[in-house]
Amino acid sequence: MTNTAATAGLDSDLAPDDLDLDEGVRADPAAHRMLTGDRPTGPLHLGHYFGSLRNRVHLQRLGVEMFVVIADYQVITDRDIADRLAEHTENLVLDYLATGLDPDRATIFTHSSVPALNQLLLPFLSLVSVAELSRNPTVKDEIAHSSQAAVNGLMFTYPVHQAADILFCKADLVPVGKDQLPHLEVARTIARRFNERYPHADGSTVFPHPRALLSAAPLLLGTDGGKMSKSRGNSVPISADPDTTARLIKGARTDTDRRIGYDPAGRPEVSNLVLLAALCQDRTPEEVAEEIGDGGAAALKRTVTEAVNEHLRPIRARRAELAADRGHLHRVLRAGAERANAVADATLTEVRSVMGSL
Ligand code: TRP
Repeated sequence: MTNTAATAGLDSDLAPDDLDLDEGVRADPAAHRMLTGDRPTGPLHLGHYFGSLRNRVHLQRLGVEMFVVIADYQVITDRDIADRLAEHTENLVLDYLATGLDPDRATIFTHSSVPALNQLLLPFLSLVSVAELSRNPTVKDEIAHSSQAAVNGLMFTYPVHQAADILFCKADLVPVGKDQLPHLEVARTIARRFNERYPHADGSTVFPHPRALLSAAPLLLGTDGGKMSKSRGNSVPISADPDTTARLIKGARTDTDRRIGYDPAGRPEVSNLVLLAALCQDRTPEEVAEEIGDGGAAALKRTVTEAVNEHLRPIRARRAELAADRGHLHRVLRAGAERANAVADATLTEVRSVMGSL
């Protein structure tokens, strides 16, 4: 491999079977457009990395066109104030670039810098019922973990806003974790209903039907055994230093059985750590568990800590380099906003036209 140390680790991560890609995408990657995004609420963690970031980079390398939204308006769905928004936004850009997104090929932008994207929310809201929004399982889960006493209107409607993220650029691929599937269903429903209600005069339709690209990596749990989340204090950030990583993994919940095994249903916490080491070392969880054998939780955690720190070393080194040039980060966001605005303006013009507004 001719890569520098900074990218050597990346390439070896990207096993071609990490994604459930069909022949259509493989045959002509450039005919597809992918959108995904993250909320700027904290640093991205290992769950994002294995569940989504690696896939994005893989798709980018295949030649799929990439849009990445930093969902700043989505932050205030479950809290009153978006805390340290600028800092979190910069950190997301750093995580993206350090893990291999290429800003010359990927359009990285914030919600709030693309007005026409947000305006799509209005016609889209008319296409879903209140009952449909109420039973969305991801919204229910987010509400359960919300820090707010009352559910605000933006939380309630945020799958629709997310549909605007996906549809403004007519993305047909959305790499997501399993937990985000219900949102994608909303986007598909909105695309279908919009197309039915507002076809072009020649019968052609405005929106593609976006579909999910699920990572082959099973969902990683947080160190407390719950869903790994950047706002629940149970995750290992990509950007953490090796000592912090060790401390976080040391604090992970396990059980008292010294024999380490891989049994996600019966022993979720231990199996989660085994899985994490396996993902980092590109081995099977069974191999990792077998090797630790009767070593107990302490040996397991040592293995996991080493595996994580080793795997992330080149990414963290690259991240530190990038962090030294904030001007570059801002130029990336400005260029992304410019491209996203051009696309969003064109889509909104088309939407208004088929709706008879012009
Ligand atoms: N809701 C996603 C999250 O919490 C972030 C997001 C915003 C997103 N818009 C999106 C993901 C569009 C996929 C597609 O992480």
